[in-house]
Amino acid sequence: MDTRSTETDLYTVIDDDNVAWLHFDKQDSSTNVLSAQVLETFYQELLDLVERAPRGLIILSDKPNGFIAGADVREFTQLENRDQALVAIQRGQEVFDRLAALPFPTVALIHGFCVGGGLELALACRYRVARDDPGTRLGLPEVRLGIHPGFGGSVRLTPLVGAVHAMDLMLSGRTVDGRAARRMGFVDHVVPERHLHTAACSLILDPPFSHRATKLQALSNHAWVRPALGALLRRQVGKKARADHYPAPYAIIDLWQQHADHARDMMHAEAESVARLIVGPTAQNLIRVFLLQETLKGLARGSDFKPQRVHVIGAGVMGGDIAAWCALRGLHVTLADQSPERIAPAIKRAHQLFKKRLKRPRPIQAALDRLMPDHLGRGVARADVVIEAIFEDADAKRALYQQLEPRMQADAVLATNTSSIPLQELRSALQKPARLVGLHFFNPVAKMQLVEIVRDSDTDATTVANAIAFTRKIDRLPLPVASTPGFLVNRILMPYLLEAVELEHEGVPATEIDTAALDFGMPMGPVELADTVGLDICLHVAEILSAHLGTSVPQRLRDLVAQGQLGRKSGGGFYRYKKGKPVKEKIVHKHHYHSDISDRMMLRMLNEVVACLREGVVDDPQHLDAGMVYGTGFAPFRGGPLHYIETVGADVLYQRLNDLEQRLGPRFKPDPGWEQVSGFVNPENNNG
Ligand code: NAI
Repeated sequence: MDTRSTETDLYTVIDDDNVAWLHFDKQDSSTNVLSAQVLETFYQELLDLVERAPRGLIILSDKPNGFIAGADVREFTQLENRDQALVAIQRGQEVFDRLAALPFPTVALIHGFCVGGGLELALACRYRVARDDPGTRLGLPEVRLGIHPGFGGSVRLTPLVGAVHAMDLMLSGRTVDGRAARRMGFVDHVVPERHLHTAACSLILDPPFSHRATKLQALSNHAWVRPALGALLRRQVGKKARADHYPAPYAIIDLWQQHADHARDMMHAEAESVARLIVGPTAQNLIRVFLLQETLKGLARGSDFKPQRVHVIGAGVMGGDIAAWCALRGLHVTLADQSPERIAPAIKRAHQLFKKRLKRPRPIQAALDRLMPDHLGRGVARADVVIEAIFEDADAKRALYQQLEPRMQADAVLATNTSSIPLQELRSALQKPARLVGLHFFNPVAKMQLVEIVRDSDTDATTVANAIAFTRKIDRLPLPVASTPGFLVNRILMPYLLEAVELEHEGVPATEIDTAALDFGMPMGPVELADTVGLDICLHVAEILSAHLGTSVPQRLRDLVAQGQLGRKSGGGFYRYKKGKPVKEKIVHKHHYHSDISDRMMLRMLNEVVACLREGVVDDPQHLDAGMVYGTGFAPFRGGPLHYIETVGADVLYQRLNDLEQRLGPRFKPDPGWEQVSGFVNPENNNG
């Protein structure tokens, strides 16, 4: 019997054994999310099921990509205050409590994504069965949005698997596959696709005792253990996130430490805590960043370009890692360089990456099989995408394109990873000049999600769309930018790095400069970042940019490069390095103008942000925020640089720039774009 009506987001079928199969299939969406409306429909369905008294209930998803991806994040931005948030969260808890209290056995049948509210729903079932494949991912990533589980997830997970596993999942927000979930104890069976339904049915027809934590796991929640474990967890979290920047992980520990003995109290406190966090600035900014990320992902929507084969030329730092990443993501890759010896180190690095990410021998071997050393360039003829990543030399690149083009498929994408040469200079050697596009990856490729899609008015629109689709295919975030010097990310980052160099030259200790940036919320200080990127590379980019932007390159940077002090890779730069780690002096007392340090660096960055907007380096101002968060790690809890300008106030920052210009000279001269900046920040201001 099928209760589906055409408009519903879920429906139930009762089979011949009187087992109810409740299918989630959200309308007009490729993914199941728990919007307020879906939750209400689910609640009604549960009430109906009580009446119909089936032998058991199996909850599953009809979406190919997974079970349920969590709450509807867009609804979080509409919450006006804490009370409104509390009502919404408590309603979610009621719905899942209803599920947990059903008088018959319940099973969550999980494939693909089962995260956030999706896993909380599964935890409210008596049993969980997961598909055995790497694509099945379970987790509670709420902390990444500045909140924590709110629909009873923290209350149900901690007793089930003990505090150590539960806190690991909730504090890191990481996801695990079915096997890891079973080892931890929150999945009962992990089976191949073909056995999923049988495994779920047998749990209903012959229900075993539900899973219980081991003695050790139970002990971890004991009142005597919690204070010490809580302190340890706080120390660990403290190494990664500060409480004033990211309050959610601390709130999770508090919640568990105070209430783990009383499920009801903990449920209540969980709702209160999430309601408080979700309307706070950190969560709202992290949610904003999440939605910006979705916007960038959405740029590939509608494209039917399905690249299978990639040819990469240049097996150096970038080309080697780009090739490895593409193979990891399932593409067939050929990798060329001037000789086989130059390719070998890249294959070795790729092997390390595959081992780290794929863990099991078979997938590792399959990824290696997809990555072919190809110094003769035989792969060019079959490639859907050809990526050039050779030396930063326009003549060499042009000469290479001349050889490549006649061998390429007519509609294949030709992309350059150049970090500084305008497309205009490179395409002149091509018969079809419009086919060249920039795919600017960042180093290290496996860590940096962003890829700048560099194009100008002469670039073919289909090529740009295909480059975007390719970027999504390899699970990176595409950011379309104009082919202007430094594109977006390096251009904005450079003045900030150069100001750090100025400060260091004035005698401010490098550690203090970096601390000021960390205090602002940057993931790494600018001095350490410059050392990590390599001072020779920084100097090269700085020279190109300063030629175009009319700024000067600090002599200190030139001197260090001339002395062979290139940063981490040479064992010394601004810092000395011991076993790859910088030796940092303790800050005895902060420099007399500590707040000025941060201001000087951030204002130069923000001034460049405004210049980029004025010049139209990005199509949409929102893209700029996404680009800076994902390309540089710009303090995510601040929601991006443009959002920061909006929060502090454009006039306040403009005034500070003016003051700095008076005091320190023309490098702080406010960009003319500040006049219109409130229009960029609030586009509706432009309407008049
Ligand atoms: P690299 O020096 O590590 O590697 C370049 C490789 O290209 C070398 O293995 C070289 O043998 C090979 N090569 C040179 N000419 C060739 C030719 N005609 N045919 C085949 N192979 C050839 O350089 P890296 O750092 O990987 O940079 C490559 C490109 O990526 C440059 O355009 C650079 O501006 C850009 N880029 C570099 C970043 C970085 O952080 N290193 C970041 C983003 C872009």
